[in-house]
Amino acid sequence: MLKEKLSRRDIILGAGKFAVVGAGIAAVSGGLSLFSKAEAKGPQTLPWPYEKLDTEEVARIAYDGWYKAFCSYGVASGILIPLQKKIGEPYTMLPVEGLRLGEGGIVGWGTICGSLLGATVALGFVAPYDVGKQILNEMLNWYGNEKLPIFTPEKPKAEVKVTSISNSPLCHVSVNKWCQKAGKAFGSPERKDRCARLTADVAVQTVKFLNDWKDGKFKSTQKFPPAMYATTSQHNCGECHTSKVPEVIR
Ligand code: HEC
Repeated sequence: MLKEKLSRRDIILGAGKFAVVGAGIAAVSGGLSLFSKAEAKGPQTLPWPYEKLDTEEVARIAYDGWYKAFCSYGVASGILIPLQKKIGEPYTMLPVEGLRLGEGGIVGWGTICGSLLGATVALGFVAPYDVGKQILNEMLNWYGNEKLPIFTPEKPKAEVKVTSISNSPLCHVSVNKWCQKAGKAFGSPERKDRCARLTADVAVQTVKFLNDWKDGKFKSTQKFPPAMYATTSQHNCGECHTSKVPEVIR
């Protein structure tokens, strides 16, 4: 019988295809009462439900996540795994391992810090578009101005005493300013633990903003760069254009 061949997930995911069959089953089994609220809306409907998370749990998962699959996965897992536990579907339909490619500023190219990419992807599911944009605008600003890392793990894998300010959301800039200040090589256990701790910091800060938003307390303070410079960019042009900032075509 068809009803046995189709899992609930198939029915939900194939909503269009199985509409007629689905309606039949709904009639047989007593309508939509079988489905949770989130399922009834379907995973295609964004944002997914959010409940406030415990930042200590988030930090722990993100830190351990770095040692499993690095920064992008670390932050995404710190946010999404607690939501998988708390809320279940649709979060459980998303294997977080699929978000690991941001590692090393995207497979080692040192562009955007992978932890921020992990936050970007997670926020895309969790926050409404406008809120996600504002939170990320705050996040990139915070990331550049903060002395990082902040988090101290219960069982550190290496000693990290030095903090640094990156003045940039770029992996290569952030990592190497820390390496220079600490006198540690990229391949050192200390640099790795620095990135693992920073991964926890980014996950925690993202969740702090999300928790504030859930409480109706989140306030955005930053303008978006294109509104200020007529081009996409980080704010401090002089960080890279040290002698003269070239003019933007308007
Ligand atoms: C992370 C480093 C970085 C930052 C920060 C940055 N730029 Fe650039 N920008 C570059 C690089 C690298 C180039 C390419 C330069 C080249 O090819 O000679 C460039 C090119 C440009 C160009 C094209 C013309 C040229 O001389 O190459 C303009 C215009 C420009 N930047 C404007 C800005 C402005 C305005 C800001 C701040 C709002 C800014 N940039 C911030 C790195 C940066």
